[in-house]
Formats: sequence, C-alpha cells, structure tokens
Amino acid sequence: MNAIIDNEITRRKFVKTTGACIAASMVISPAFSAILKSSGTKKRVAMVGTGSRGNSLYGKYLIEEYGDLVEFVGLCDINKGRLEYSKKYIGVDCPVFTDFDKMLQTVEMDLLMVTTVDATHHEFIIKGLNKHINVVTEKPMTTDEKKCQSIIDAQRNSKGTLIMAFNYRYGKLFTKLKEIIDSKEIGDLISVDLNWYLNTFHGADYFRRWHGLRDKSGTLLLHKSAHHFDLLNWLIGSDPVEVYANGALEKYGKNGPFRGSNCRNCEHTKDCQFYWDITKNQGYMDLYAANEKYDGYLRDNCLYREEIDIFDKMSVLIKYANNVEVTYSLTTYSPFEGFRFAFNGKEGRLETQEGIPWRDTAPEDQAKLHEKEMDNTSHTKQEHKYHEIVTQRNFEDYKRIEFPYVRSGHWGGDKLMFDEIFRGISVNESLHHPANVRDGSMAVLIGIAARKSIDEGIPVKISDLTDLVPKINKWA
Ligand SMILES: NC(=O)c1ccc[n+]([C@@H]2O[C@H](COP(=O)([O-])OP(=O)(O)OC[C@H]3O[C@@H](n4cnc5c(N)ncnc54)[C@H](O)[C@@H]3O)[C@@H](O)[C@H]2O)c1
Repeated sequence: MNAIIDNEITRRKFVKTTGACIAASMVISPAFSAILKSSGTKKRVAMVGTGSRGNSLYGKYLIEEYGDLVEFVGLCDINKGRLEYSKKYIGVDCPVFTDFDKMLQTVEMDLLMVTTVDATHHEFIIKGLNKHINVVTEKPMTTDEKKCQSIIDAQRNSKGTLIMAFNYRYGKLFTKLKEIIDSKEIGDLISVDLNWYLNTFHGADYFRRWHGLRDKSGTLLLHKSAHHFDLLNWLIGSDPVEVYANGALEKYGKNGPFRGSNCRNCEHTKDCQFYWDITKNQGYMDLYAANEKYDGYLRDNCLYREEIDIFDKMSVLIKYANNVEVTYSLTTYSPFEGFRFAFNGKEGRLETQEGIPWRDTAPEDQAKLHEKEMDNTSHTKQEHKYHEIVTQRNFEDYKRIEFPYVRSGHWGGDKLMFDEIFRGISVNESLHHPANVRDGSMAVLIGIAARKSIDEGIPVKISDLTDLVPKINKWA
C-alpha cells in the first residue's frame, strides 16, 4: 500500500501549539488501486450493515463478479433477522455477529465494508482503522464535524486506508464531463449551477425511512447531497471554503393532511397520493417486514409522521478556494427525476441534463427509475438513447454530443469503482477517481456547513469545522 504523506500544517494544531509550527503528517491514501489487488490468496472481507445496499452491491454482486478475489469472513448487523436473510441472499457461509466489537476481535480481515445507517459509519470506520485494517465506507462518510475530525485523526494514526465509495465519480457521464472540463475547452471554470430533482417516488421514499431523521441521516444535505458535493469538488478540482444555505420542510412530515402508522395499516390509503404497497415487493417483505419484530423498523413508515425533522427543499451557495462559485439545489417532490448541470468557464459553457421529460428521447417510468439506478445486474447496459452534452465557446456556435446513455448501477459507476478497488483497474489515473478520507470529509463538510447555515442563518467557513485546510488545487 502506497501511503502519500501530505505535509499539511493543520490550522488547529498550529494554534494549539502556541506558535510552534508543527507539520502534522496527514496520511492521505492515494489511488487505492493496489490495496486489494490479489496476490494469489483471496482477500478476507467482512461487512457491517446487511441492508439493501450492503446485500446487493457489497454482498451478492461482489461475490458473483469478484468471487475469484474475495471471500466473506464475517457479516454484522444489529438486526439478527436481516443478518440471517443476508447470509442466504448473498450465498455465503461465514460467521454472523450482532456485536461489531466481537466480529472485529474474533475475525481476521483484510477489508471491512461499512454499509450501515449513515450516523453510525464513524464508529466502524474508526474501530477498523484503529486495528490498521483497510476500510471501505458508503457515503456519507459521516454526519457531523466531530465525527469527521475523529475519522481524520484515526486515518492519520492508521496503517489501514479508508476508501470512500464515491460511485458517482465513476459514472460514465460524469467522467465525460470531467474530461471536457480538464481539456480546458471552456477555459478555467468560473461557476457551476447544479439543480437535482428527486421525484415523487424516490424523493418521497427518503421520508418513509430512517433518512427522515436528522440523527440518523444528518438530513439529505448529507445522505443525498454528499454524492453531489463530492462530484462538484472532484469536477472543480478544488476545496470548498465557505457555504451559505437555505432550506425548509414544507411538504412531508408535519405538513401532511393526515397520517397513519405505516402504509400497510393506514386508513388513508385511498386518499394518500404517496400510498406505497410494500407487500408487492417480496424482496423488501423478506428483508424488512419479516424482521420488524427485532427492531421495530418500518420500511413503509408514514412520510407524514410528525417526527420527520429534515428539509425537503434545499439551496446552497458554495465558494471554492480557486474562486469557483456554485449554486446548488435539491428538490424532493418533483414530477420527474433528473438534474441540470451547467459549467461556466472563462472561454465558454458546458451543459448537460438528465430526465427532463420534454428533452428525453425515451422518457423513463418515474416509479421504476430508482430501481434501475440500483440495479446491479446490468451495470454497463447501454440503452437506445443518449445523454445530451453541449459545449459552446464564446463567440462560436454550440457543439452537441450524443453521449451513450448508461443509467443502471449509478451511471455504470458501481462496477467501475469495484474494478478499481478489487482488481486495481483504473479508468484513467489522471482523472483522480479514487476517493480518500480527505475527499469524504470535504463532501460531508459542505453538507454539515449547509445544515448549520440553515439552522443559524449565517455563512459557514469549512476551515471552522475540522482541522483540514482547504486547498486551491485538490491534487497539488
Ligand atoms: N452509494 C450509493 O449509491 C448508495 C445507494 C444506497 C445506499 N447507500 C448507503 O448505504 C448505506 C446503507 O443504506 P441502505 O439503503 O442499505 O439502508 P438499510 O436501512 O437497508 O440498511 C442499513 C442496515 O444497517 C443496519 N444497522 C444500523 N445501525 C447499525 C449498527 N449500529 N450496527 C450494525 N448494523 C446497523 C440496519 O439494521 C440495516 O440492516 C447508507 O449509508 C447509504 O447512504 C449508498
């Protein structure tokens, strides 16, 4: 494992040592491509969090596609029913644990995979790193600045490496955008506009689940936007320095016209536009409904329940160290799912969009779109349509690219990310796809700053949240 030592003088440490200049050695993992590259023997992997994402991508898909390189040595979840289901679903015969510490003490592993509820990631990441184990974590890396700092500290003291599973970066469309930006066709970037729309199926679903609670998801500014903030950081190639945000909860939660216990037992099914029948999905019935008795978690919970305390509309202004300015918004009850991305450069403009029905060559079934995104069986399936990418240099005509459309497995990103982690195959090293603790931190720090900004009505400086110092060039 190649660890690069980033001799960053961290601000807080500098202040704490009353003027003595300490070059705090910040161990930053580089390309993790070789971490798990097989050297003959199979790498031992363990997973904590045997829910939907864990079982499908990190479980079944991993075994089916990378089974020549890895073997499962442990599965852990606090829900013992889900744990047993997971073992059968993935098709492995390894020890299972409801106590994470016991798994860590008794099982020798090369890689720990963290796929639990967002607010719990830090516990497993830190314990894994403290044991000098490589850890891969799902996004968001964590949900508040204290946990973020603890993870940074744990990475500094560990021989293990934290791999941030930012699959969107690997998405084919986003990789194409990065290539165009890096080619300087539109000159140096000045500003970026990103509007992301979640539809009334996928967007609504966040409010049915644990994601609707701040203390579990950190709000969608962490759970969902961490993907978008990382994409922005990576595409812009610089670190965020200041964030200002607005947001509110106006449709779901206490705003609902009525509420019930959960969709299966609700008297309002005929009147509720958001009624969702989980019994039609056998996989969900087996994974969640059959195991409610162990933890009381209702997968089809009421999205109008009073306890929901996250925002359902959010807008964020981000200023970067290289002076790029971003305007971002997230909508959670749009009639269609998609986004609009525009990059303004000194020499021109780059634009793309997805899912806008009147621009779509083959409109999507809105109810099935998220299922397609999560589909691990057709990661690279190309469809008979395309993404429209337009560049226009100042004083010139526009150029329109019809880019092959891949939407499954997060724009094909899940597979390409796993190829890099487990097979050491890089898409293009100069594009910096592998993400580390610093990338994970910078993405969540924007979300944390935005949440704080909404709560307190003030702009928030990224450097006030942890001891990381924003850099003009991320990779310098
Ligand atoms: N990168 C992506 O595109 C993507 C897509 C979906 C989900 N995710 C991430 O994957 C993670 C899991 O999401 P999901 O949709 O599978 O949720 P889920 O609710 O289906 O699964 C979460 C699991 O974690 C378990 N868990 C909770 N607290 C725990 C603890 N303290 N110890 C052990 N187990 C615990 C739960 O019992 C549950 O089985 C989340 O962090 C989410 O952000 C990422």
